[in-house]
Amino acid sequence: MLDEQKIRADFPILSREIHAGKKLVYLDSAASSQKPSVVIDAMDHYYRHSNANIHRGVHKLAEEATDLYEQARKKIAVFINAPKQKQIIYTRNTTESINLVAQSWGRKFLKAGDLVVLTQMEHHSNIVPWHMLVAQLGIRLEFTRVTPDGKLDLDHFKQLLAQEPKLVGFTHMSNVLGTINPAKEMISLAHAAGAITLVDGAQSVPHFPVDVQDLDCDFLAFSSHKMLGPTGLGVLYGKLDLLRQMDPFLGGGDMIKEVKFSGFTPNELPYKFEAGTPSIAEAIGIGAAIDYLSELGMDSVEVHEQNLLTYGLERISEVPGVTVFNADPRNKGGVIAFTIGSIHPHDVAQVLDRSGIAVRAGHHCAQPLHEVFSIPATTRASFYLYNTKNEIDAFIEGLFAVQKYFMAG
Ligand code: ALA
Repeated sequence: MLDEQKIRADFPILSREIHAGKKLVYLDSAASSQKPSVVIDAMDHYYRHSNANIHRGVHKLAEEATDLYEQARKKIAVFINAPKQKQIIYTRNTTESINLVAQSWGRKFLKAGDLVVLTQMEHHSNIVPWHMLVAQLGIRLEFTRVTPDGKLDLDHFKQLLAQEPKLVGFTHMSNVLGTINPAKEMISLAHAAGAITLVDGAQSVPHFPVDVQDLDCDFLAFSSHKMLGPTGLGVLYGKLDLLRQMDPFLGGGDMIKEVKFSGFTPNELPYKFEAGTPSIAEAIGIGAAIDYLSELGMDSVEVHEQNLLTYGLERISEVPGVTVFNADPRNKGGVIAFTIGSIHPHDVAQVLDRSGIAVRAGHHCAQPLHEVFSIPATTRASFYLYNTKNEIDAFIEGLFAVQKYFMAG
């Protein structure tokens, strides 16, 4: 069990007051999580004591910066059980990780007419890079259907696999529905159909244990800022044989072994994909975040969020007129996206904000998914390890206030 009060004391921002004395209730961690002092301090310490460029200098500071940067890579590898550190590629975010696969693997190994299977519940970051390959190469896209109750239609998935796609990409956990897809089963089915697999782990890696060897995924993409770390740092894990076959899609410093006027030789893994001066402090920050999460234990984080979710779903059903998109707590993470009658989701979020409650409203970068449900937008509350049942009570009270406000108006 997590010690709620101790955890909350680790996050300075949680004691902030909003709108003249309202306690902050932060229910927007699916967009970006808050940061504990250990992360802020690790980055501050780096800038105050070890700041220098990496892999370039022979001086002490450059050595320290390089060590810290590479130690963080090792922590990430251990965290997701990657066999080797060099399978961890630093990027800017999940989006860039997926673009790297599309541009470096896709442009080399896909050709006109090849099929890529995605799902209707993807974030734009796992749709648009593939739309770009439709334009660049003439590949085909198919989207596994989402059922009316917010699950993936696995029969449809199998039908699409029968068309022998070259790549299957899917979100491990939907950022809107909270649905946790049966990744291991889907990967095994995709492999049997001859496809390689890309898992968008932006919403899964921060919230429950993810083991790339157990999943047997070919690629896994995720972001630091949703798992207590800083913005500006993403990760791509890949299987070694695939990473070795891929060519870099960004060129410049550090990603080369040798450059001549006539051409260049790319560097070894992982550096061949890390062109230019990277996000050094940010890598150190995610290292500290991983230490923090590992100390708490990802199993405990998962249980805590599951308890919050179950409680949140129970309580929100008390509010008249609420529709929750995937109201089944099984195989679902701490995300509740909903509408209240015809009240605009932005209005809901704005009224909640007046009480210090932070939620997100809109299409959550999943416009096609909203189209499936024939709605333009939802309001979304999302939970993390620092949230409490009291905060969910405040959120529900806020929803009753929204109702009153719009019904009276
Ligand atoms: N992907 C982030 C979200 O779902 C930004 O809010």
